[in-house]
Amino acid sequence: MSTNPKSCEILKHNSKYIPGGVVSVNRKVEPEIVFVRADGAYMWDADGKRYIDYHAAFGPYFLGHNHPRVVEAVAKILHDGTSLPGTGTTVLEGQLAELLCENIEAIESVILLNTGSEATSQAIRLARAVTGHDHIIVTQGGYNGWYDDVARQVMTPLEEIGPRLSPGEYRFIPMGSGIPTSHQQTTHIINFNDLDSVRYVCERYRVAALITEPILQNIGIVKPQPGYLRGLRELADRYGFVLIFDEVKTGFRHAFGGYSKLSQVKPHLVTYGKAIANGYPLAVLGGERELMDYFVHPDKSRRPLLAGTYNAHPVPVSAAIATLELLLENDGEIYRQVDSLGANMQEGIESILQSLEVRGIVARQGSAFSVYFMDHAPQDWHDLAENHDFEADGKWRRALIDRGVYIFPEATKQCSISATHTEADIAFTLERMQETLQIITSDGASRLRISRSATRNIEKHPSQLNESSVSNTNL
Ligand SMILES: Cc1ncc(COP(=O)(O)O)c(C=O)c1O
Repeated sequence: MSTNPKSCEILKHNSKYIPGGVVSVNRKVEPEIVFVRADGAYMWDADGKRYIDYHAAFGPYFLGHNHPRVVEAVAKILHDGTSLPGTGTTVLEGQLAELLCENIEAIESVILLNTGSEATSQAIRLARAVTGHDHIIVTQGGYNGWYDDVARQVMTPLEEIGPRLSPGEYRFIPMGSGIPTSHQQTTHIINFNDLDSVRYVCERYRVAALITEPILQNIGIVKPQPGYLRGLRELADRYGFVLIFDEVKTGFRHAFGGYSKLSQVKPHLVTYGKAIANGYPLAVLGGERELMDYFVHPDKSRRPLLAGTYNAHPVPVSAAIATLELLLENDGEIYRQVDSLGANMQEGIESILQSLEVRGIVARQGSAFSVYFMDHAPQDWHDLAENHDFEADGKWRRALIDRGVYIFPEATKQCSISATHTEADIAFTLERMQETLQIITSDGASRLRISRSATRNIEKHPSQLNESSVSNTNL
């Protein structure tokens, strides 16, 4: 008999009217749980079971679900007569734009959109308008949205991706059908942390932009190697392409402005979404004024189209303003608080891995972490595909969900701590992690087990990388 009958019933009902019963293919996972309520660090399913949430809806809830300050700001807008005029500018959009430009060094001017996909597609369109070139470079294992230019497979199985190509490029394997081959021909897919392959593509094509997450956070936490991001900027300046940091996931979760602030590498353009409005649909494209001004270029034929009925809708804009004001309080105290929870989580998991003699590593940036069942920190998707134990990862996640810890049930996916998680939540989670890992490795022949000495030698990750203090070894 099912342990979650109400979830099953709701899914069955919805499947009559929605293909597959779920409105985003990424959300169609096993176990099929229907959540009906969330507060802070917790979510409740339709059958009344409570979970500590580490999924955070793919990242936005950095402050926790339904944060009172954000809810209050939204409620005010709903009741004070503010609406979406849909003509001219608004006071609120000016307030948000000022808050961003005055506090983030990498951006001088912004546009406000609704989703991360809109922001990255506008960034690519702008780069094409500025350079007059069509080709773009993206990274294998990165995700930049669901539209035709960038919707390549993220987690391509080893059998499909084939041997490592460097310098070189992988073929475009679409994430779904319906993507014209013409789009696939102008998108070049290379490994993360691979400057040689950037040069390889630039020597062969007229490249408008390279777009990458500064940390690959759609396959866990895959960090840039020292010098990589700076090397990208240097190659962008040398070859004349626009460097776009896709900070839809990293932005505001790791620092006010994102990883470009921590790494001190300035892209030409940057995109934000998710944590910027703590769960409300808002995204931003920002960057150098000279580039952003193409949206109002005096020569109409050089202007990229910028439009959107719901751009800068007052509800998400007010949510973003409330979120950002909170993030700025006490010189960013919230980041220090959440980082300390992350550090405790990392330490706890590492000690469990060691005591159980499990071959594993914790990769973490502040509040975001991933456990990889391999013996080193992955440098790119190919490395992960070759070395990570996906089966054990999947099993572990499902065992944790059974015990009230909601970690997204797909191997390698990032876990996100929020400002409302407590030390007690972390302690509860670590107990469940110990229990479940013990069960998974109880078979003496488990592939996960390693010798004690090997566990000690597993490389540790710095929680913060300052690119300016490291040599440019990759150039
Ligand atoms: C790095 C990155 N860029 C872009 C997107 C697309 O954002 P959205 O789903 O809001 O369109 C995502 C979504 O997961 C993302 O993680």
